[in-house]
Amino acid sequence: MIFSQVDNEITEGSYFLVCHGQRVGLLADFMVKAMGWGDDVASSMYIAGRWHDLGKSKIPLELISKSGKLSSKEILLMQMHPIFSGLLVQSKQLPDNIINAVIQHHENFNGTGYPLGLVGEQISVEARILRICDTFDALKEERSYRHAKTDSEAIEIMREENRKGTYDKKLFEVFLDTYKEADSHVQRNCSASSFVVDGFSGRIPVLRNNGQYRRKVNSDSRKI
Ligand SMILES: [Fe+2]
Ligand SMILES: [Fe+2]
Repeated sequence: MIFSQVDNEITEGSYFLVCHGQRVGLLADFMVKAMGWGDDVASSMYIAGRWHDLGKSKIPLELISKSGKLSSKEILLMQMHPIFSGLLVQSKQLPDNIINAVIQHHENFNGTGYPLGLVGEQISVEARILRICDTFDALKEERSYRHAKTDSEAIEIMREENRKGTYDKKLFEVFLDTYKEADSHVQRNCSASSFVVDGFSGRIPVLRNNGQYRRKVNSDSRKI
């Protein structure tokens, strides 16, 4: 697999995407294993999670890290990132279930998501799992427009979303049963340290290269 090559593509602009992807992949991998779905599905989920936001590397960092309200044009561009991710993942000749999971990771079970507005089981099960794991990790990250949420704050927000039908309810129940153990699994396995990139409070990855860990640091970045 070509993890380091793709990580390098992502890190050209946005270090935080690598660690967010790693964590979402690990959460999804853990959730699938908890359901007894087997290692093949789990490794597909890990890859899909790892690269679900790859398309954000094609969106200007000023827009991703913008703290003010986005214009309708900017929202539309941001909502294109799953398509960009899908095109980039497709260019790596990955299987369709991974490509679909990546393209559909912002689709909501009740049809209110994007980019296609798919409903219910029109959305692949892998994408429905990613939707949950991605939201949890995103809420717990510091963003330019809000502070990081605690675990319990993130879960409360997600319960409210679940009441509105945003998630596949059965999968959300599995997530609630497993997230604490999954999260400690993520903390043990995700190699990252906190950083600020262009004013964006994110993470800097520690990438394995030829068996050794190394740090990639943007010279313009500022340490917290
Ligand atoms: Fe995304
Ligand atoms: Fe994400």
